Amino acid sequence: MTGQDTSPLIVALDTDDRGRLNSIARAVAPHAGLLKVGLQAFTALGPGVVADVARLRPVFLDLKLHDIPTTVAGAAVAAADAGATMLTVHAAGGAAMVAAAAKAAPDVTILAVTVLTSLDDDDLAAVGQPPAAEQVPRLAAMAVAAGAGGIVCSPAEVAAVREAVGRDVAVVVPGIRPAGSAIGDHSRVATPAAALAAGASHIVVGRPVTGAHDPAAACAAIVAELQWA
Ligand code: C5P
Repeated sequence: MTGQDTSPLIVALDTDDRGRLNSIARAVAPHAGLLKVGLQAFTALGPGVVADVARLRPVFLDLKLHDIPTTVAGAAVAAADAGATMLTVHAAGGAAMVAAAAKAAPDVTILAVTVLTSLDDDDLAAVGQPPAAEQVPRLAAMAVAAGAGGIVCSPAEVAAVREAVGRDVAVVVPGIRPAGSAIGDHSRVATPAAALAAGASHIVVGRPVTGAHDPAAACAAIVAELQWA
């Protein structure tokens, strides 16, 4: 597991400051498999940020799209044109919506988000939905059958998702905290090695890298931890 082409590490570039984003992106690119552009950076800086980052590493564009199939298909084409390699949509948008995105952007890996980990089972009940443990494997299997190339899920769900979708698709896991780092606002976290052992193909790390005094060194430490796991 050496070199950026095989690194499972995705660094989240969560900032609305173009200079800071470019500087972190340049620093971490040698260690990361992909770089994540999320809603904050995309909304503040525009689609050009995808092309800028894509000059360094493939871009995971985390927009969590959820709309009617035609609209999501149009956005998926625009994401492909902007230079995204991976794009997130909500599995809850349904099989037709996931299929429309996959068909519209065949060169982009469509990742389906199952249930937001900010929602606990009481929150889900309040919006008329079953508990996460019941929904997540079902949504994951549905999305992959519809053409998704992967799933985004929390560390708590990764083993069940891997079992539901098989070995051939990406399982991308945020909520990762290297041993000894601050948990922040996550209620459930896993170390990089534990997430990969449970079945993740990629891990997403944001603040433990972007908030570090030396982001490149923080990435190198994560990759080293994985090599020796
Ligand atoms: O907490 P951290 O800064 O490492 O988060 C990294 C990224 O993972 C953020 O961009 C956040 O949007 C995303 N994330 C997510 N689902 C979670 C937790 C974080 O998509 N449950």
